[in-house]
Amino acid sequence: MSRTLTFSIFRHNPGDPGSRPGLDVFTLEEAPGMTLFIALNLLRDEQDPSLAFDFVCRAGVCGSCGMIINGRPGLACRTLTEALPPRITLLPLPTFELIADLSVNTGKWMRALSERLQTWVHLDEETDPDRLEEPMEPERAEAIYELDRCIECGCCVAACGTARMREDFVGAVGLNKIARFRADPRDKRSEAQYFELIGDDEGVFGCMSLLGCQDVCPKSLSLQTQIAFLRRKMVQIGAGFA
Ligand code: SF4
Ligand code: SF4
Ligand code: FES
Repeated sequence: MSRTLTFSIFRHNPGDPGSRPGLDVFTLEEAPGMTLFIALNLLRDEQDPSLAFDFVCRAGVCGSCGMIINGRPGLACRTLTEALPPRITLLPLPTFELIADLSVNTGKWMRALSERLQTWVHLDEETDPDRLEEPMEPERAEAIYELDRCIECGCCVAACGTARMREDFVGAVGLNKIARFRADPRDKRSEAQYFELIGDDEGVFGCMSLLGCQDVCPKSLSLQTQIAFLRRKMVQIGAGFA
């Protein structure tokens, strides 16, 4: 039997001096296979063209549709309405700059993170474009690929107590990126250089290990394993054992 869904959706446009934050209520008839992506587009098309939210891929790949869905960070395009009760509350991801309504600027946050953690392969020689690529062990390539599956959706940051308290905390997404480059034999950074990047409370020692990040990661990355491993390594380096 089809249900009538009631949506309470956060509305605010910080660029409009007359805008005040609040919730707007909409109702919509549920359809089979309906996702929050479909529902939000219907609401925008049929009820309020000013409703702001982000989508690009609709397939859990681009990471742009993260939002707080009934209190939990998640991807709207991968969330079926049938998995939710008929009353649905949608809020923008906290921590990130609000653009309007459900749209936040995760790109700006992720760019700053990448610059800060220098998330690119650091070679120790000039790149020779004519040289053949060096082969990599399939197991190693697989391990790097696994860590590279992060889509930078920001859900782990939104779920993180430390990120809410410490503006400069790199979050599980940042620590996962460091794990990715540490795993890459082409990156010649030393452990001491990684320690410089994450060996403090804004890095791996700020994490409270409560697993909020891993619980909500839509790509099911093993964030806690990576964080625990990095923490052990950084403790050894800090103590001069590595
Ligand atoms: S680690 Fe997971 S939750 Fe965090 S940004 Fe990447 S995909 Fe999203
Ligand atoms: S385990 Fe660490 S990074 Fe993950 S949500 Fe908790 S404090 Fe944040
Ligand atoms: S629209 Fe791309 S992840 Fe949802």
